[in-house]
Amino acid sequence: MTEEALMLSLHRDATATEHALRSYYDEADGDIALLLQSEQYSLFAGGKRIRPALTLEFCRLFGGDEEAALPFACAVEMVHTYSLIHDDLPCMDDDDLRRGKPTNHKVYGEAVALLAGDSLLTAAFEAAATNTAAGAETSAMAVAYLAGCAGRAGMIGGQMMDIEGESRELSLDELLRLHSRKTGALINAACVLGAMAAGLRPGDARLERVNSYAESIGLAFQIVDDILDVTGDESALGKRTGVDAAHQKNTFLRFYPVEQAQLYADRLTRAAVEAVRDWPGSEMLCALAEWLARRKQ
Ligand code: IPE
Ligand code: IPE
Ligand code: MG
Ligand code: MG
Ligand code: MG
Repeated sequence: MTEEALMLSLHRDATATEHALRSYYDEADGDIALLLQSEQYSLFAGGKRIRPALTLEFCRLFGGDEEAALPFACAVEMVHTYSLIHDDLPCMDDDDLRRGKPTNHKVYGEAVALLAGDSLLTAAFEAAATNTAAGAETSAMAVAYLAGCAGRAGMIGGQMMDIEGESRELSLDELLRLHSRKTGALINAACVLGAMAAGLRPGDARLERVNSYAESIGLAFQIVDDILDVTGDESALGKRTGVDAAHQKNTFLRFYPVEQAQLYADRLTRAAVEAVRDWPGSEMLCALAEWLARRKQ
């Protein structure tokens, strides 16, 4: 697949996801107008929408109906956006720029930003649990899977290791586990929920390959994020660079110079492509993995 075709596919999926996300804000509620405004400020600030694209694409790959995947795609993007709002708070990474705009707490204050994150996290599970197009059984499975990936065994566990790591040098093994948790787990949820929307059930051998793809691109994604924090361009990224060093973060670049870290990400990308490329219709997933490893944004 050409890069142009990939961009078109990502754009289409982002548009569908944003349309669906907006529907969760259809009803005005004057009592909490500021909260809703703050949530939407971050949710619709842009972002690459990689995770929802993965959910939709894995659903299509296995012949599922996109309608069944969309609420899961929205749920994953809501969890992701909440994680960014909280990640940027002064008590966490203390960032002032996200998705090309001032961070949520810079605009709405810490208390509202905290609540906007809480609210998005809760809304995510409501969206997944009420996915009537997928049916009650699939929704329940997806909710449990997403909770596992977003919580202590996944993203929150990774954020905890990240924060503790500010005052201690982690081993490479620990860093790999940290990266898999803080970033890999939610990317894994995005992929698996798409497969579930298409009817795959735990124990289905195809899920092993979905997991293998997801784990490889998830780790590569955070390695590239670490690289971009050093080599990237703030206006392309829409966030500050140099923040990892300023916080004594454990990053991949503590262990490898940039070029070798990039080769590590490239190797993971090849493993991801290997996991799915036999399947007819996997061209977009292959192209996406390759683009993510070389992205500048
Ligand atoms: C940023 O994720 C946070 C990490 C997990 C590294 P993205 O790079 O996907 O951020 P957006 O959604 O495009 O803003
Ligand atoms: C954050 O990792 C991953 C999350 C769970 C939000 P980073 O702290 O490296 O993400 P950026 O660089 O701020 O986007
Ligand atoms: Mg962080
Ligand atoms: Mg951060
Ligand atoms: Mg980073």
